[in-house]
Amino acid sequence: MSDLKVCYNILSQVYKQQTYGSVSLTSRLNEAKNRDFVTRLVYGVLGNNVKYDYYISQMTAKKPQNSAVILLKIGMYCIECMDSMPDYAAVNNTVELSKEIGKQGSSGFINGVLKAFCRQKPKLPADEVQRLSVIASVPLWVVRQYAKQFGLERTREFLECKPFELEHARVNTKKTDMQTVLKKLDDAGAEYIIDEECENCFFVRNGQKVRPLFDAGLITFQSLTSVKCCLTAAVKDGDEVLDMCAAPGGKSVFFAAVGDNVKVLSCDVYHHRLELIQQYARRMGVKLDVRLMDATVYNKSLTESFDVVLCDVPCSGLGVAAKKPDVYLFKEKDMIFGLTQTQAKIIENGARYVKQGGTLVYSTCTLLKEENEEIIKKFLKQNRHFKLDSQQLFLPDGKGSDGFFVAKMRRTDK
Ligand SMILES: C[S@@+](CC[C@H](N)C(=O)[O-])C[C@H]1O[C@@H](n2cnc3c(N)ncnc32)[C@H](O)[C@@H]1O
Repeated sequence: MSDLKVCYNILSQVYKQQTYGSVSLTSRLNEAKNRDFVTRLVYGVLGNNVKYDYYISQMTAKKPQNSAVILLKIGMYCIECMDSMPDYAAVNNTVELSKEIGKQGSSGFINGVLKAFCRQKPKLPADEVQRLSVIASVPLWVVRQYAKQFGLERTREFLECKPFELEHARVNTKKTDMQTVLKKLDDAGAEYIIDEECENCFFVRNGQKVRPLFDAGLITFQSLTSVKCCLTAAVKDGDEVLDMCAAPGGKSVFFAAVGDNVKVLSCDVYHHRLELIQQYARRMGVKLDVRLMDATVYNKSLTESFDVVLCDVPCSGLGVAAKKPDVYLFKEKDMIFGLTQTQAKIIENGARYVKQGGTLVYSTCTLLKEENEEIIKKFLKQNRHFKLDSQQLFLPDGKGSDGFFVAKMRRTDK
């Protein structure tokens, strides 16, 4: 099987079964001869999905069959972004691919559209918001919403910035220290930059050179904004902490490493995801109490039991689109309302688990104000015994920051 067919099969699974790109990729990557090529092409197509849908709509009289749409997207990505593949080869390879998958009937059509695409790309929309949606390959409803919240210029800035190439990592101070890790990185010839903002953190090129440090639990990959969220929570040694939506466990593990006497209860609603938390804790050498719990349902036994409660709620995830190119797929505007209902229930329950004088932290990896500021505003209005300490929205900046929101509240009744 050709690597292009492996790409086709993965993309076909994503589009038809609405699976995550990363999940389909991982399950079929062993079929690839060149894994890097397949990974790049699959993520490349998914990341350009909105743009290619627009191009296809402009170049065809009626919407082609699903298989032809996927073939055209593969061809377009090869033409636009695969420098190692000249245009004529990109067209020929895609035509061959159509035969390999048994769609020889569409070969002529694929050939014609892609040849026309090589000659001239369709004109971009005249309307600025629509144009940005195509250029940045972000659904129109999202760009409209951002333009309302941040203005078009600022929206353009963060939508067009490229993802930072290095990954944010943190030293596991339970097992080692920054100096020892940096020495090991130097010895391995790894490319890294020290994070001047967050202690014991650095940006590093992920790959074989850092793998042994990761496997030994000396370091972990935790995004800059996730670390900042943990720092905002300001957990102290001796605290009892509840992480209500904990999997895969990044923040729970951070809290548990703050001191020898921090007690962390890590919960998640999905049984299979609890195992991810356990694995993470084992690798990092920290102890967590891991439990299955639906955070939307009030658990009376936990009432007023914790110094710090974190609600790192399920959200639309739009703030991490630069890292997860398929985040926009299958997300519609009307799905946001359902999410906000869940988020409101979780923060409401979380508040009931906070001890007097304790801290409640609410966080998301989205920029939509309905999931962020509006949840906090409504919560504070209905819970006068909580006061807002801080509220921060991070925009993607191409220098390591994702889109992220974190609000910290204190329970003030005596
Ligand atoms: C943003 S992720 C949490 C990331 C995690 N805090 C970390 O730092 O690694 C949201 C989590 O919420 C979980 N979740 C979704 N609905 C939930 C619910 N009703 N109760 C508890 N957890 C839920 C998901 O399984 C997912 O693991």
